[in-house]
Amino acid sequence: MSLKMKSKPSIGLDIGHYTIKLVMLDRSPQGWKVHTSLSALTPPNSVRDGSVVDVAAVAATIKGLLKRAGLKNAAAHVSVAGASVVMRNVRIPKMNEQTLRKSIRFEAGRYVPNSPEDSYIEFEILGDTEDGQMDVLIVAAPKQLVDSRLQACTMAGVEVESVDLEPFAAFRALVEANQGIDIANDTIALIDIGAYTTQVSVIHKGNFAITRTINQGGNNLTDALQRYFKLTFEDAEEGKMQLDVRALLDDTKPTENPPLRVLQPQLDELIREMRRSLNFYQSQQTEAGAGGNLSWMLVSGGGAKLPGIADYMSGRLGLKVYPGCILDNPRFSGLSEEIATGPEVSVASGLAMRAHKAA
Ligand SMILES: Nc1ncnc2c1ncn2[C@@H]1O[C@H](COP(=O)(O)OP(=O)(O)OP(=O)(O)O)[C@@H](O)[C@H]1O
Ligand SMILES: [Mg+2]
Repeated sequence: MSLKMKSKPSIGLDIGHYTIKLVMLDRSPQGWKVHTSLSALTPPNSVRDGSVVDVAAVAATIKGLLKRAGLKNAAAHVSVAGASVVMRNVRIPKMNEQTLRKSIRFEAGRYVPNSPEDSYIEFEILGDTEDGQMDVLIVAAPKQLVDSRLQACTMAGVEVESVDLEPFAAFRALVEANQGIDIANDTIALIDIGAYTTQVSVIHKGNFAITRTINQGGNNLTDALQRYFKLTFEDAEEGKMQLDVRALLDDTKPTENPPLRVLQPQLDELIREMRRSLNFYQSQQTEAGAGGNLSWMLVSGGGAKLPGIADYMSGRLGLKVYPGCILDNPRFSGLSEEIATGPEVSVASGLAMRAHKAA
């Protein structure tokens, strides 16, 4: 007789500064069957600069989400992000994986803002180069940032199966959504507008070239409205969601809408920072004598729900911009009114997919 232990259900859990998202899905003949996609507001001031600073409050919110999902416990794939989480593509002398593992702290020391001893460092050898060296992807995150997230999960009774980078998870979801986009050959920008941060990544032929964090997000827009019109946070949020920023695209006719005029400088500043990151990528490419012009952009995160933002970004950046509503796609079944399919769940979806190896 063989006894098979029933394993815990796998979830993707995205602990954001504004909302915590939980997604649970399975492979299906067409692609994916979504069982659950939920979000709850993050308790105020419980997540700061990527770290969980109030472990008990975040754990309680995670527990609440589990309950709403009908789960007693779960094994979670979680993520990290923020300015202190770094990803670098580096070229170093050729060595085998074992040797690199021994010297990775030394190699990474040049790129990691914190001391390497206080960081978790991972790497992936991407391949040999023509000049006898090799390209390596190095990822590092402060131990305290990662550990605080693990503590919140543990306190909520959730076992952590893996820790990923947010942009990697969002990209996995994008690949799975397979919206007829040529990921293998294109150079794409993946932009996630969260509450306090915006992540800009460039993916060239399926490989991450850069990922950067801008310390601005949807909250800066709310903040501007709140201050100017002396509103409560909730009223400013509500008001923001009613605006359509496409009205700002006509430069010949300044908008008469006062809230839009208050929003515009913040939005333009955010887009300027995006452009700076994209220019940085382009200049690296030019230096290396490589091509890699951007083909298009995908914008995800709750900030992507601002009405008209994809068109506005497209107008300002001169690129095609698609909203990243990953689950809103024929490859995903099981959707219902209770299942969140907006651009804010792309990270959690990509995390949930980690539980399921390629079919
Ligand atoms: N309908 C909407 N219109 C405009 N903005 C919206 C809308 N819905 C949500 N947002 C904004 O999205 C932001 C939150 O997005 P999201 O939930 O992706 O953030 P987060 O993942 O918690 O934050 P971070 O990634 O910074 O940790 C907030 O600034 C919120 O105001
Ligand atoms: Mg986020």
